Amino acid sequence: MEKKGDIALIGLAVMGQNLILNMSDHGYTVVAFNRTLSKVDEFLQGAAKGRDTILGAHSLEEMIGLLKKPRKVMLMVKAGKAVDEFIELLLPHLEAGDLIIDGGNSHFPDTIRRTKYLADKGILYIGTGVSGGEEGARHGPSIMPGGNPAAWPLIKGIFQSIAAKTADGEPCCDWVGEDGAGHYVKMTHNGIEYGDMQLICEAYQLMRDGLGLTNQEMHSVFAEWNKGELDSYLIEITADILGYRDESGTHVVDLILDSAGQKGTGKWTGINSLELGVPVTLIAEAVYARCLSALKDERVTASKLLKGSQAVFQGDRQAFVEDIRKALLASKIVSYAQGFMLMREAAREYGWNLNYGGVALMWRGGCIIRSVFLGKIKQAYDRNPALSNLLLDDYFRGIIESCQPSWRRVVAKAVELGIPLPAFATALAFYDGYRCARLPANLLQAQRDYFGAHTYERVDRARGQHFHTNWTGTGGSVSASTYTV
Ligand code: 6PG
Repeated sequence: MEKKGDIALIGLAVMGQNLILNMSDHGYTVVAFNRTLSKVDEFLQGAAKGRDTILGAHSLEEMIGLLKKPRKVMLMVKAGKAVDEFIELLLPHLEAGDLIIDGGNSHFPDTIRRTKYLADKGILYIGTGVSGGEEGARHGPSIMPGGNPAAWPLIKGIFQSIAAKTADGEPCCDWVGEDGAGHYVKMTHNGIEYGDMQLICEAYQLMRDGLGLTNQEMHSVFAEWNKGELDSYLIEITADILGYRDESGTHVVDLILDSAGQKGTGKWTGINSLELGVPVTLIAEAVYARCLSALKDERVTASKLLKGSQAVFQGDRQAFVEDIRKALLASKIVSYAQGFMLMREAAREYGWNLNYGGVALMWRGGCIIRSVFLGKIKQAYDRNPALSNLLLDDYFRGIIESCQPSWRRVVAKAVELGIPLPAFATALAFYDGYRCARLPANLLQAQRDYFGAHTYERVDRARGQHFHTNWTGTGGSVSASTYTV
């Protein structure tokens, strides 16, 4: 009898190929397909050679014919148009109860739309985040599936077996929620990834330009940090990068142009945070920092014209490096607190029932932001699943308290030295704003009421009552409507 596949995967770029090999390692039979057919043969004769659990298909019809029912087809193609195109191409070959999975970095509104579109046709749909890059896909990614809940039992076994496992053996993959929830959580993961990377880069610039440390010294600093509370994949690769030299002995990091790229997921997080009205300031700063870095030519011109500070660092460098470590840790706590605030609001807005401890567990291993720290977040939600903000958890409150003097010293020193620390500084500003019972928004409301009769609420009256003052004596007593967006 002809061998049948458990799942088909379309898109044989590196992530797709590695996921297939990973599934094959776990005993699943996978049908491989690619729009450019030569890639199928290259794969079969290359990385997949000798594996009877990897079958090639040279048409969608052949691919579908090679699958067990209900058929499961996973797309690992570029987010956007290509996903919609493949859905349309697949539809004539599928029957009710079959499943399409999109494993790319799709924008969550697209996943909401596609889940509904396919449900109306009786086809199950999952939009899943897959994180961990090439290495993760090959040996254990973090997988964040959402979509049609009826689809989960069909794919749970495969996904949980190929996913990364925590030290306790738990898979870094679980059902996230309805329609776009999986891609939303992946988007937030990427936003947090932007924030973590920016914090590390700011620490690097402060050590390089403020303290004059060499790459080798910074390599040792990051390697040391990776042994403690900051133990994480991104700190680990930063240590590696700073220690890496080419054949001529030059540190490659010094040869790389300081102009950052981005594919959009961080920007989506920032835009969505504005739409939902959640102050996710650190991720937004991280996106803007990439934008500023991309203005390379303008910056070079400005660097010759705009004067900065003449101050030079004086003091104990080693003690200051420890201050930077603590400032990074405190800022990172704020960033994750903001990311979880965003997911909480999104769950309310889009009708998802997110399990925040479960999200932390999925990010604990396999993905780009994997860290010891995420284990602590998981514990915080285990202690209190209804925790309204990570900053209020006893463990994180304790850390912030112990890091706070360092955090303030670092931000103040960077301002004095003229070294930009947008992410560290916004984290501290958020912290000070969040813990402030009386912000200056009373004055802001007065200004709005002064020039536009926008009205205000009063501290001595119940919420929901709106007042207007005729500030100049010449304005009328008619107020504007009081809607707020
Ligand atoms: C992951 C990453 C990945 C992302 C890249 C590039 O979780 O494996 O988040 O999905 O696409 O990191 O992102 P940028 O090009 O936007 O930096």
